[in-house]
Amino acid sequence: YSTGTYEFIKTSTPKDGVGLVTLNRPKALNALSSPLFKELNQALKDFSADESIGALVITGSEKAFAAGADIKEMKDLSLADAYGKDFIEMWSDLTTFLKKPLITAVNGYALGGGCELAMMGDILYCSTTATFGQPEIKLGVIPGAGGSQRLTAAIGKSRAMELILTGDTFTGKQAGEWGLAAKVFETPAECLDGALSTAAKIASFSQLAVKAAKEVVNKSQDLGIREGVEFERRVFHSLFGSKDQKIGMEAFAAKKKPEWTHE
Ligand code: CAA
Repeated sequence: YSTGTYEFIKTSTPKDGVGLVTLNRPKALNALSSPLFKELNQALKDFSADESIGALVITGSEKAFAAGADIKEMKDLSLADAYGKDFIEMWSDLTTFLKKPLITAVNGYALGGGCELAMMGDILYCSTTATFGQPEIKLGVIPGAGGSQRLTAAIGKSRAMELILTGDTFTGKQAGEWGLAAKVFETPAECLDGALSTAAKIASFSQLAVKAAKEVVNKSQDLGIREGVEFERRVFHSLFGSKDQKIGMEAFAAKKKPEWTHE
């Protein structure tokens, strides 16, 4: 992974099986322009295709995960430009094409589209330095990349409504208390380390089982409990067709460490 390939992001593989994307547009606090998002999607697609990668992390800088969509880029868009050309539709692509787990490690500002990108991760980690918010109302618009849906699902209607209607920000500590963040770290460095360690742990398991686990948990967001449990059971059954299920269970019975084939 060459770090010279991209203009607005950096990619690396800091641990076995872990792909890291660092948003790197410091002059604009990582504002998510279309060129930046194209690079992000490309990097995630490349990591998806790489069989040695089992989990992914996206992070920003200590100052900003991302300060939102690029306001300067979108300020002159007409309705025809926005609706007619499905402005920012490609932002959501990663939530469908990306089958490997994604951890978002959030430090500093995660506002508007930055908060929305953070919430597209399968697991959100942050530090106490994080500032989240959906301030679009202050610009005369509303969240456009899933914020109204994902924030409400994560923290409940009343809190999400208050935040989206006022544009008020909330802290990393609150994100943890409200269940938006799975873990809250004291410092940005600890946050990134924590995300990379969790990603490495996930990458040490059977990629088939990991893919299935992500699929069934995500399904819980779309289905009622009964259909969801049935769906989970079918995917569970299907894993008995894999080599890794035999390898994992035989290793347990033999008190050995499993050697996954990802088959
Ligand atoms: N788009 C474009 N440029 C941005 C930006 C954004 N979202 N956020 C920051 N920048 C730029 C600033 O314009 C500034 O550029 P210049 O140096 O050329 O003037 C540079 O980044 C540094 O920013 P500030 O000087 O403002 O830094 P600060 O530390 O004083 O303030 C901040 C930081 C509070 C995050 C402030 O930059 C800010 O309020 N940014 C906008 C946040 C926002 O409204 N985000 C939502 C965007 S709308 C959206 O995302 C729609 C959606 O749902 C998809």
